[in-house]
Amino acid sequence: MAAPRPPRFDAAASEVARAAAAAPDWTTLAQVNRPCVACPELAAARQHVVVGDVPLAGRPRFALVGEAPGATEDETGRPFVGRSGALLDQLLAEAGLDRGEAAVLNIVKCRPPGNRTPKAPEVARCGGWLRRQLDLLDPPVVVALGLSAAKWFLGPRTVLAQVRARPHEVDGRAVWATYHPSAAIRFGPNGAPRAGLLADLTAVAGTLA
Ligand code: URA
Repeated sequence: MAAPRPPRFDAAASEVARAAAAAPDWTTLAQVNRPCVACPELAAARQHVVVGDVPLAGRPRFALVGEAPGATEDETGRPFVGRSGALLDQLLAEAGLDRGEAAVLNIVKCRPPGNRTPKAPEVARCGGWLRRQLDLLDPPVVVALGLSAAKWFLGPRTVLAQVRARPHEVDGRAVWATYHPSAAIRFGPNGAPRAGLLADLTAVAGTLA
């Protein structure tokens, strides 16, 4: 088998990483993130950079990390406030988790046109923002929602069914990868993704109790 190719140098990714690393706190990081134009196609189409939500005070008990904003998130500038967000809120409540104690983030901060899956260079560039967010917020537990977020934490060969339902240690945090709420919507109230997402959130709640 051929050796994997080394990642190509990407000046925009380096610039994001440099700007993010220089931000000393969440407020500064959000200010520097908002005018980001590292991904020209996304920057041209977006209404808002959806930086993320954090608890009003203190360290988040856990972080929820999704893929990228959808239409409602792009309009409002807030993560998980559309249909997926409504189901996520419902399942968090059923699992006994409080969204107010969570950081709610995405691997990509701008809405991809037509809600397409973010492209690899977009994920790589935006990764600098997410890495610094995690450094500064330091949540002990991360819930990666959907395959894109799962791959970000656990590697490009990740298969969701093989990694979900248990924690993985990544950079000193417990990372749980589970279904995205949009899959739970797509497969309906009796589908496996909804049951799996609820079971995983309930298991996370058990570790935080
Ligand atoms: N889907 C995501 O992955 N993130 C959001 O913020 C909203 C929908």
